[in-house]
Amino acid sequence: MFKSKIAGIGKYVPKNVFTNNDLMKYMDTTDEWIQERTGIKERRYGDRTGETTTTMGVAAAKIAIERAGITPQDIDFIVFATLSPDYYFPGCGVLLQRAMQMKDVGALDVRNQCSGFVYALSVADQFIKSGMYKNILVVGAEKHSFGLDFSTRGRNVSVIFGDGAGAAVLQPTEKENQGILSTHLHSDGTHAEILAMYNPGTHANHWVKENKLADFDEAEMGEMFFSHAMLDKAQVFPFMDGQSVFKVAVEKFPQVIKESLEANQLTTADLSLLIPHQANLRIAQFVQKKLQLREDQVFNNIQKYGNTTAASIPIALCEAWEEGKVKEGDLVCLAAFGSGFTWASALLRW
Ligand code: UT7
Repeated sequence: MFKSKIAGIGKYVPKNVFTNNDLMKYMDTTDEWIQERTGIKERRYGDRTGETTTTMGVAAAKIAIERAGITPQDIDFIVFATLSPDYYFPGCGVLLQRAMQMKDVGALDVRNQCSGFVYALSVADQFIKSGMYKNILVVGAEKHSFGLDFSTRGRNVSVIFGDGAGAAVLQPTEKENQGILSTHLHSDGTHAEILAMYNPGTHANHWVKENKLADFDEAEMGEMFFSHAMLDKAQVFPFMDGQSVFKVAVEKFPQVIKESLEANQLTTADLSLLIPHQANLRIAQFVQKKLQLREDQVFNNIQKYGNTTAASIPIALCEAWEEGKVKEGDLVCLAAFGSGFTWASALLRW
């Protein structure tokens, strides 16, 4: 059986920088609140004319493919992770295949939100290991800025998220001490509704009744896939019970990181770099402390980009690599937690 390695990595963030002070023009918030609770100073928002989740994914993919020393025509499978697709269907995978004029290869869309990239990487890893494919493009991209409530009502969610994309090319490697060592995927749907966007959807109020969702007018909200009532009551934006999410995140992140190390008979002392999903700087700092990692063992860039969900890990991995913080032979752990809940890790030797 083969192992897979990341042969090329790329990232793209839109040019438009939106600071915390810029957000204050739209909602009742402060730079101080945002920085203190999340560590975020600014984020990027995609261009309103023509920049989509897929076009950002394409920009990152072009760099990853070039760095892998191949062309788009060499790609034999696409895995695209996002929660903010260009269309409800079809998914971004086929739009990227078309935009990059790739062969008519398979395109799989992954919907695991913040864990999306690690899930996508894990799927690609299995296809490489089995020998089925030789060049898989894995993309994580988000255009959150089109789907957030920028009024004060939505401030607990909207200040966190940003736009961007990251991509990696996976190839087989025969080197003994290189590549993805293992991946670990988890889910627990018990809390599906505490970090979710309910509409448009086919829930028909079923889950709403069962889970007694706050602020949800069941008579009007679930009768149609999409309705005027949903718009009028602003039920078309993401909902998050931040404190509950935070509590579970700080429990699951360390667990899944340790799981990946133990599965490979390694310890935190062996870890060169942890790249956590950039959910909140306070979560990353908590995880660092809990695992007794040195500051230089954890990479964070949420300060500049906010939380870019499925794109956050590949953007951070790419930036760390560009800054020379990921070198050949390094042990790197990617770890994610988010809506679902889903959480996941991947341990790799660069
Ligand atoms: O990547 C997906 C996974 N998501 C996460 O991991 C997010 C985890 N959760 C968090 O990061 C934090 O819960 C948040 C940063 C989202 C919120 O921080 P918090 O300390 O949990 O704040 P809170 O929601 O409990 O709100 C505290 C107060 C409230 O006011 P009152 O009721 O105490 O008067 C909020 O209305 O802060 C208020 N608030 C804000 N104030 C200024 C909420 N959002 C804002 C805001 N600016 N943007």
